[in-house]
Amino acid sequence: MTIVAIWCRHKDDHVIGVGPHIPWHVSSDFKRFKRITQGACVVAGQTTYETFPNRTLPNRRICVLSFDSNYEVSDPENHFVVTDIKDVKNINDTVYISGGASVYRAFMLSSLLMPDIVIDCCYQGDLNPNLKGDKVDISSCVEVLEQKYRQISNDYLEDNIVTRVLVKRGDFVDQNVIKHIINAIENKEDK
Ligand SMILES: NC(=O)c1ccc[n+]([C@@H]2O[C@H](COP(=O)([O-])OP(=O)(O)OC[C@H]3O[C@@H](n4cnc5c(N)ncnc54)[C@H](OP(=O)(O)O)[C@@H]3O)[C@@H](O)[C@H]2O)c1
Repeated sequence: MTIVAIWCRHKDDHVIGVGPHIPWHVSSDFKRFKRITQGACVVAGQTTYETFPNRTLPNRRICVLSFDSNYEVSDPENHFVVTDIKDVKNINDTVYISGGASVYRAFMLSSLLMPDIVIDCCYQGDLNPNLKGDKVDISSCVEVLEQKYRQISNDYLEDNIVTRVLVKRGDFVDQNVIKHIINAIENKEDK
């Protein structure tokens, strides 16, 4: 299996949320996320899962990380709860780690679960000033990214967001997964 982390962070301060909200609205970012994760398995913390419209993402399986084993998902056929993060290793598929901050940290700071690939989207605009709540940042994950990963793609700029793909240094990475991700970013069909 391949573990891929995908996030969109604010330039410089690495903020990914304010309270439960993503503090920008860029529809091409949601579309890119959809193209990349289509048909695959998305891993999300309970807080992030509850921000998905109707607690779902069409055409994807969702692994919900929660410490509550009785947590009720919205679509038991396609969504499942994992209470021990190490069990993510048993998912027989490419998994896309999709936040929030506690989940990115749990993977990026773990020797066992560190993602093979990171899709690092960086928003260059201003944060929405009207949102209430604490800022949530992933600075510790970006430190790991800078030390342990190397960039293997171009920088793609679209709607004020720079997207780049990085792989863990020294590790073998499934080239089909890389190809799929780059094609999805470039909005091409897989061949
Ligand atoms: N910009 C982006 O790319 C992006 C993407 C996703 C989310 N976000 C933002 O991130 C913020 C939410 O992040 P967050 O850190 O507060 O919440 P989160 O990571 O989405 O979810 C936290 C919850 O997940 C469960 N959890 C986390 N780690 C676990 C583990 N190792 N094992 C089992 N369960 C675990 C816990 O559930 P319980 O303790 O409740 O059982 C915890 O309360 C929001 O602002 C959201 O908008 C941004």
